[in-house]
Amino acid sequence: MTLARPILAGLAAAALIAGSAAAQDKPGPAAAVSEDDGKWQAEDGTPTFHVDADGTVDWYTFSGFRRYHSECHVCHGPDGQGSSYAPALAKSVQNIDYYKFVETVVNGKQEGNLVMPSFGTNKNIMCYLDDIYIYLRSVGSGEVPRGRPAKHADKPASFTEAENACMG
Ligand code: HEC
Repeated sequence: MTLARPILAGLAAAALIAGSAAAQDKPGPAAAVSEDDGKWQAEDGTPTFHVDADGTVDWYTFSGFRRYHSECHVCHGPDGQGSSYAPALAKSVQNIDYYKFVETVVNGKQEGNLVMPSFGTNKNIMCYLDDIYIYLRSVGSGEVPRGRPAKHADKPASFTEAENACMG
């Protein structure tokens, strides 16, 4: 089986960061303070959403909306609102930080009968994990309404480059 190198590198980095950030679990403010080719960062450097005055969301929020609904929705419910089986991720991202979020999706989690699968080798999820996180932050904030975003920014060139490198 082949696993693209960027994924392995990314996972190793995520594991390292998760280890070093283990002490502080609460995420910092989600407000976007800086931008790099259409991808926004919060004050603590974690990926976050951005919405223009006219309601246009950044590309990552839109991409995350699509990925969430193809990969996570079945258990976690529409719009990250939760189900009888799995927690509301729009809330989770306000309680656990980015590194814990990534670590949970990579390694999975099990408490009693509830099983969150491990997705560390699933490129359709790992290559878009920031997108999913950014989208969940956006609905969790209440600044972006539930449902498919009506207007979104164009796809940045760096998104396509990273996607091609990750998907191989
Ligand atoms: C097969 C069902 C299933 C799928 C698909 C699934 N999850 Fe989960 N997930 C769960 C369950 C159940 C839990 C609760 C596990 C526990 O508490 O032990 C969970 C927990 C989590 C948590 C921890 C939440 C918290 O508040 O601690 C995160 C983060 C998470 N899932 C992210 C995702 C993402 C992102 C996706 C899509 C890429 C996804 N999950 C897809 C079932 C699923």
